[in-house]
Amino acid sequence: MSNQLDLSKELIGRRALVTGGTRGIGAAIAQRLVDAGAKVAVTARSRGEALPRDFAFVAGDVASPAGVAAVAEGALEALGGLDILINNAGGGSGFPQGMTSIPDEEWQAGFALNLFAAIRLTNALLPALRESKAGAIVNVSSGAATMAVSPIAHYAAAKAALNSYSRTLAVELAASNIRVNVVSPGPVTTPGSRAFSDALGAPPDLFAKKIPLGHYGSPEDVAEVVALLVSDRGKWMTGSLVNVDGGMSAR
Ligand SMILES: NC(=O)c1ccc[n+]([C@@H]2O[C@H](COP(=O)([O-])OP(=O)(O)OC[C@H]3O[C@@H](n4cnc5c(N)ncnc54)[C@H](OP(=O)(O)O)[C@@H]3O)[C@@H](O)[C@H]2O)c1
Repeated sequence: MSNQLDLSKELIGRRALVTGGTRGIGAAIAQRLVDAGAKVAVTARSRGEALPRDFAFVAGDVASPAGVAAVAEGALEALGGLDILINNAGGGSGFPQGMTSIPDEEWQAGFALNLFAAIRLTNALLPALRESKAGAIVNVSSGAATMAVSPIAHYAAAKAALNSYSRTLAVELAASNIRVNVVSPGPVTTPGSRAFSDALGAPPDLFAKKIPLGHYGSPEDVAEVVALLVSDRGKWMTGSLVNVDGGMSAR
């Protein structure tokens, strides 16, 4: 590999879909892939106001089977094929009273968005990814998957399942030359993490003291690692789970 790597060109010719790409971590990933030369479509339930013109937008709710089908169809139409799939849309409400206060429908919603969305969208887009010469999937998990976090136990359990699913998928798709990796962020400053802290009546930097590097990450910190994983720089990586968390999971 040349040490004259031009990061603004390394994804030229690649087509990428980023779910939840209108804000937070997903928007930073979409921008980073565009900056590297990729053609990018983002999906979310609504377009929002600040979506850069560089992205194609496909509306859809990935938490439902019908929404996934619409997103897959719209993305293929916008991009003309697919090389990179980033399953980033995720999140969930917090329940300050603890795990046993989480209602059944919230468990189901948590799994629909944080697990089944990735499974269904991957299945829908696999035929297109199999035609790519550089197929790569990144699933965005969470450090919560390996922690006891009572108010978001449903979310954490779904992300733990996503980690397991991704590992098996990586082994299964290796023969098709499609790489599958997971990024597992720690606390990152986003609209989603702010809403979570607000709902708990907690300060926005609620977990900062638990982070060895001492502060929350930025969406761009996560996007940089995703760019590595989907590019040829990461061509011998599959089945990996990469913590991007200021050292939080190392404690
Ligand atoms: N921020 C953190 O501290 C942190 C830490 C660990 C892991 N993560 C993970 O990183 C990912 C991104 O988190 P974030 O904090 O950047 O989220 P965010 O700020 O809440 O943004 C979420 C994005 O997903 C979209 N979205 C939500 N539900 C959707 C649905 N049902 N269908 C389609 N799109 C949907 C939203 O747009 P619409 O609302 O318009 O649909 C938005 O574009 C998530 O998987 C999250 O679990 C975040």
